[in-house]
Amino acid sequence: MNEITLIATAAFGLEKVVKNELLALGFENLKVSEGKIEFEATLADIPRANLWLRSADRVLLKMGEFPVLTFDELFEKTKALPWEDFITRDGKFDVNGKAVKSTLGSFRACQSIVKKAVVERLKEKYKQEWFEETGPEFTILISMLNDVATLTIDTSGAGLHKRGYREAGGEAPLKETLAAALVMLSFWDADRILIDPMCGSGTILIEAAMIARHIAPGLQRAFASEKWPAIDEDDWSESRLAARDAIIPVHNLQIYGYDIDVKSIEVGKNNAAIAGVGDDIHFEQKDIRDLWIDKQYGIVISNPPYGVRMSDFRDINEIYIALNKAFRKKRGWSLYILTADELFPNYFKRARPDRVRKLYNGNIKVNYYQYYGERPPKDMPEQQDPTEGDDS
Ligand SMILES: C[S@@+](CC[C@H](N)C(=O)[O-])C[C@H]1O[C@@H](n2cnc3c(N)ncnc32)[C@H](O)[C@@H]1O
Repeated sequence: MNEITLIATAAFGLEKVVKNELLALGFENLKVSEGKIEFEATLADIPRANLWLRSADRVLLKMGEFPVLTFDELFEKTKALPWEDFITRDGKFDVNGKAVKSTLGSFRACQSIVKKAVVERLKEKYKQEWFEETGPEFTILISMLNDVATLTIDTSGAGLHKRGYREAGGEAPLKETLAAALVMLSFWDADRILIDPMCGSGTILIEAAMIARHIAPGLQRAFASEKWPAIDEDDWSESRLAARDAIIPVHNLQIYGYDIDVKSIEVGKNNAAIAGVGDDIHFEQKDIRDLWIDKQYGIVISNPPYGVRMSDFRDINEIYIALNKAFRKKRGWSLYILTADELFPNYFKRARPDRVRKLYNGNIKVNYYQYYGERPPKDMPEQQDPTEGDDS
């Protein structure tokens, strides 16, 4: 029972980022498909995967996968799975999920059949007719794709983007998992300057600082499977202890966040402090039109406002021009811009982007425009505050 299959789910376009994270955590034999990465693991890996994955949405425990064309088949095949290995006598469980291209039309009916089948199985195994459901939570997920059902139990609980540092969002904050992925998709490393000139509540910068200081993103939160008796409590406490030991206490980071909105800056400072990276990020209220950078070879990662109203259009165009102006003449700056505005490259008067990735910010289709600057020389002296000498 110790050998299990886990599935890390990923937003569209981030599968490779999650795969690389899993490889870095030492997992092998990864099977990547749209929206998920399947991997062999042990029960003791559930805490580690949940605590450390930065860009995945959830970690699911795979219970079974089978072709299914009728409701009877769904019932029998679900009932045949060893649910009692995980779901306790007093376990509280729900069934959720999604269906894409499947013959079994009513997904609601599928959900209730799965629930019934699991209840029947547990009745037989526990020799019990009635379940109080007062104990730990088990969310069973059924996913139907091309008449194949995959049944899993969610080990994470709340989505992994919920790190526990966000007290209040600024204007349209990015999901933490996406923000971490944007950093991992850039060439930023802890020795280089990082600026988000429209940082809002600072999600990108907070995730970057956590990456640089090896702070496990899940260290401040709880997970549904923490209460499962099937997982040894020591596995959780040891993983948490190891994560605490892994933190690099101080790092001379050069991370700068600016925003026109003073309230967002306050929220950013607050969130960063809760995340344990308050001293690693310099936040300051500043209009991008006043931004003046005196340094070289830095990285910009940002998601500018996206005006859906025509009245915002002029402002946004000005922002693009200001963004280009601030970095155009400086050597070696790389820019990474996430926006839903498909006209961005036309108005941001630079050469064509080196790469454009299609991603999703929630349900909104966005592009991640990547403009690579020259790499810094190896013997470059340490960089200082990029706004030093700012005369605005
Ligand atoms: C989409 S939000 C960024 C959200 C951010 N990534 C987060 O996770 O919280 C865009 C931000 O651009 C800021 N902004 C708008 N106009 C600006 C300007 N002229 N200069 C600087 N920031 C500006 C807004 O205040 C807003 O916080």
